[in-house]
Amino acid sequence: MGDNETGQVSEDAARIYEAVYLPALFQRWCPRVSEEANVKPGDYVIDIACGTGALAVAVSGIVGPSGKTVGIDINEGMLDIAKSKSSSVEWINAPAEALPFKDDHFDCVLSQFGLMYFKNQENAIREMIRVLKQGGSLAVAVWDKLDNNPGLAAEEYLWQQVFDGEVDETPYRLGDRGTLDNLFKRSGVTDIQIATHEGTARFDSIESWIHTGAKGWTEDDALGDDQLKLLLKTAEEQLTSFRTSHGTVAFPTSAHIVTARK
Ligand SMILES: C[S@@+](CC[C@H](N)C(=O)[O-])C[C@H]1O[C@@H](n2cnc3c(N)ncnc32)[C@H](O)[C@@H]1O
Repeated sequence: MGDNETGQVSEDAARIYEAVYLPALFQRWCPRVSEEANVKPGDYVIDIACGTGALAVAVSGIVGPSGKTVGIDINEGMLDIAKSKSSSVEWINAPAEALPFKDDHFDCVLSQFGLMYFKNQENAIREMIRVLKQGGSLAVAVWDKLDNNPGLAAEEYLWQQVFDGEVDETPYRLGDRGTLDNLFKRSGVTDIQIATHEGTARFDSIESWIHTGAKGWTEDDALGDDQLKLLLKTAEEQLTSFRTSHGTVAFPTSAHIVTARK
């Protein structure tokens, strides 16, 4: 599997992810995921594929001093930033497919926008359920299909057109509700709810949006200066419909949150 399929980024890309991608795209999903799992003061919670830690940090504020939050990820660059943000969360470098915890350990198991990248998604879901206490709740967010994410689709097609490559479907491969339902069933979780939520992505400019896609995720080493210039120039020409009257960028996003109880 390549870096884009496993969501692995360099330290430089992790810094851009934290500075731009997180507030633009991911941060606003944290309250929804924690609400879907009904995280409460005193809960013991794990955020799987925590990245730079946005969800775990938000949750540690909810569980308070009588609860506990753990964030796990396999990317040290992402975890380094997470560690610098909060010392009240326990940060662990571990794969979602082999969680270093005993059975029936957590009140809530959360994960946002990571499952698509796991090498073994079924094992990861089995692990999520294994570490969940009886009566505990699971909430997992994944992107909806590209067809329902017009801004993200336009970004993918821009890359395809400029570099004559294939659209990277990895982030959206669980976007079909049937595919998602089947994955959880194959992993032994038969009673799930899938709620589809709308969000909004906001970037300061078209340049910031496309630069972040190029340098704040898995392709950060792939483009030379001239290629990046060409990408940005074509984006300015083709993505104007996503520009607001203030010159910023805003587009709707759609994601599924899967919930289940043990
Ligand atoms: C799009 S980021 C999402 C990060 C974070 N949840 C957020 O909302 O900002 C995907 C994350 O999944 C992590 N990841 C990919 N495969 C993983 C695995 N097998 N186990 C744990 N984390 C994994 C990557 O390292 C990356 O940090």
